[in-house]
Amino acid sequence: MRINVNNLSFGYDYRTVLKDVSFKLESGDFLVIIGNNGSGKSTLIKCLLGINKVPNKKIYLDDININDYRRWINIGYVPQKFDDFNYEFPITVNEILSVSKYGKITEDERLIWLDKLGILELQNENINNLSGGQLQRVFIVRALVNKPKLLILDEPTVGVDSTNIERFYNTINDLNKMGVTVILITHDIKSSKANFSHIMHLYNGTAVMKKIDRNVGDSS
Ligand SMILES: Nc1ncnc2c1ncn2[C@@H]1O[C@H](COP(=O)(O)OP(=O)(O)O)[C@@H](O)[C@H]1O
Ligand SMILES: [Mg+2]
Repeated sequence: MRINVNNLSFGYDYRTVLKDVSFKLESGDFLVIIGNNGSGKSTLIKCLLGINKVPNKKIYLDDININDYRRWINIGYVPQKFDDFNYEFPITVNEILSVSKYGKITEDERLIWLDKLGILELQNENINNLSGGQLQRVFIVRALVNKPKLLILDEPTVGVDSTNIERFYNTINDLNKMGVTVILITHDIKSSKANFSHIMHLYNGTAVMKKIDRNVGDSS
């Protein structure tokens, strides 16, 4: 998915959080967003997701003004993890995946994603019995079931152990190579294997973005 953000400012009530943010991404780009707590990272992606309402002509998704955008199914989203996640009723991993699904992924593909993220054996587990890191990986698979053109991940590896963090980055790099645009917020980018193309530093709502030369075919 192509993304175009033009001089976007955004605040809650009287307080400005994002200050004149502009950037462009092409299909297949991989943007990492870093910045201190409270710098506006989650606020920015909530603008891209239509959760935070923005004025017309500030954000275009595939050249469509975000306020006219309807194909939300094209976006996979893993929200920032909340503590004490709890469902009001018992639901298994497979059930949560099937209620999120819009008919695009095949049975085989679902199994492949579960396996890639190391949670194949948890398919029929009640999600209330999962550890934080396991649940986070379920949410990652959930974001993939509709074959998104844009994948937005807000600190997806918090609580995930190092083996599974590596699995996660391999999966994301593979998806990105297949042309999926990725936006990732993380605090551990230096140690990660993310093969990103752009990095944005948010300083108190002001964005500085840099393009990174990545080696074509580099799988690291
Ligand atoms: N729904 C909200 N209502 C009011 N203020 C908010 C809301 N969400 C975030 N904020 C404030 O906006 C600022 C940026 O938050 P956020 O985008 O979550 O930062 P980050 O993700 O970089 O840690 C913080 O000061 C936060 O308290
Ligand atoms: Mg955040």
